[in-house]
Amino acid sequence: MTARLRILLTGARGLLGSELAEVLAPEHEVFPYGRAELDITDPEAVAGALARHRPHWVVNAAAFTRVDACESEAETAFRVNARGPEVLARAAAAHGARLVQVSTDYVFSGDRPVPVPYRETDPAGPLSVYGRSKLAGEEGVRAVLGEEAVIVRTAWLYGSGGPNFLKTILRLALADPSRTLRVVDDQYGSPTWSRRLAEQIRVLIGAEARGIFHASAEGCCTWYGLARTFFELLGLPVRLIPIPTSHYPTPARRPANSILENRRLKEAGLNVMRPWQEDLTEFVGRFGAELRRECGGG
Ligand SMILES: NC(=O)c1ccc[n+]([C@@H]2O[C@H](COP(=O)([O-])OP(=O)(O)OC[C@H]3O[C@@H](n4cnc5c(N)ncnc54)[C@H](OP(=O)(O)O)[C@@H]3O)[C@@H](O)[C@H]2O)c1
Repeated sequence: MTARLRILLTGARGLLGSELAEVLAPEHEVFPYGRAELDITDPEAVAGALARHRPHWVVNAAAFTRVDACESEAETAFRVNARGPEVLARAAAAHGARLVQVSTDYVFSGDRPVPVPYRETDPAGPLSVYGRSKLAGEEGVRAVLGEEAVIVRTAWLYGSGGPNFLKTILRLALADPSRTLRVVDDQYGSPTWSRRLAEQIRVLIGAEARGIFHASAEGCCTWYGLARTFFELLGLPVRLIPIPTSHYPTPARRPANSILENRRLKEAGLNVMRPWQEDLTEFVGRFGAELRRECGGG
């Protein structure tokens, strides 16, 4: 049984943040902040929140996550994804609090052959403004807190709490059942349930972990493979066509191989991440009907 800790949570209205608020609350005293209540790039506001709550931990789930928008809004991307975490790290250091910074598979180039995964110690090489800004966030936090900072890199998040790929394709499918969806089939990653990741972060805090951890679901697939499995689990007969990335041009380049190995979690005996199909099955079983309603179906 871990001690009851005070945890200041930022980005608490987002996909991951909303899960963290729920998962951490029974065990700890959580102070959840959405962007409207606390802008992580505002040093005075952040210092004020830490002075008010005197948290043992700060968990930063706030970020500018619209990967394509980051290309044209680089200044905002670096302010939120790099400067913000550094502001939090400085405030945490001043108050003797620990920090969890959530980061991404997009810090890697993805140019190694599938299915060779990326480990925590592999060199970064981001392809996009989003990836570069998140890497700068990691570096900023580590410059202030060193190994005391916990950096959790995850990938391909989905869940009930915020916009994500699964909701987008479900919305398209329900809007026009006769439609054929074209989905990219040459980018590989590990679809990760935000609820499971929140549990993993709870475990890391309980273990007083330190350093960088990869935390994504076990196994991998493509976006097409994910879409096919998702619609099968929902029992929705949607026509899907696999396409190469070159047929779906986007402003930001994305890694072809986004597969992360949870090596440090396993070495530390802390890994609670599960095979992606297992989590997706549980997710659809628990939230399928709700998702259909939210995304436009009956
Ligand atoms: N989603 C993925 O597939 C994925 C993959 C790998 C890593 N990650 C990482 O996982 C973490 C959580 O992502 P997510 O998917 O939960 O993102 P999300 O749903 O977009 O949530 C991020 C939250 O941060 C808030 N925010 C933005 N700017 C802020 C600021 N200046 N101050 C305070 N809050 C601010 C946003 O508020 P507004 O909505 O009001 O702007 C939003 O509620 C991020 O670090 C992300 O980089 C996500």
